[in-house]
Amino acid sequence: MSTNTVATNQQMDYFDGHERIWVFGYGSLIYKADFPFIERRPAHIRHWTRRFWQGSHDHRGTADAPGRVVTLIPEYDAVCTGMAYLIVPQVLSHLDIREKNGYLRVVTDMHLHDGSVAEGLVYIATEDNAAFLGPATEADIARQIAASTGPSGPNRDYLVRLAEALRELRADDAHVYAIERHLQELLQQERAA
Ligand code: SIN
Repeated sequence: MSTNTVATNQQMDYFDGHERIWVFGYGSLIYKADFPFIERRPAHIRHWTRRFWQGSHDHRGTADAPGRVVTLIPEYDAVCTGMAYLIVPQVLSHLDIREKNGYLRVVTDMHLHDGSVAEGLVYIATEDNAAFLGPATEADIARQIAASTGPSGPNRDYLVRLAEALRELRADDAHVYAIERHLQELLQQERAA
């Protein structure tokens, strides 16, 4: 099922009047910055953990065969590494459309890796959104990803590019790397068949 969060996000007025806003990316926003930004910096946020628990009907899958993309799940003391972008507020309308399948703007502190802390936004798909798929084993998640494709391309590319970007950031993320390993095994089996 899909959902559309654009209208809700556009009502969010927390940063009204600000000339610049920090946005934290933890999924495709790390490796695919298809929007103008003033600067970007590696960063982390606390008490959230990255999980491939959100369905993708519009980018990496279809309504009948959703793919899986990442969202953030609350977890005390967890650290989620990603990329912080400093943008002008006009860019939010592009991000709202890109993240429309269930993601809501949430205010968060982000710890920039130069040691400073900035308040900004992160797009999170919470478990009450219609596209939320929830937990599955990492092997099953890899199988679903291997089988899914959508308008933005194969779901496997999303996973592989995210894992590569996380390695570049030296991020500790056992969940993403385990799913990537399962995917590589599946691809080897495909090639051998
Ligand atoms: C993000 O990257 O911050 C949100 C999830 C996604 O678009 O992959």
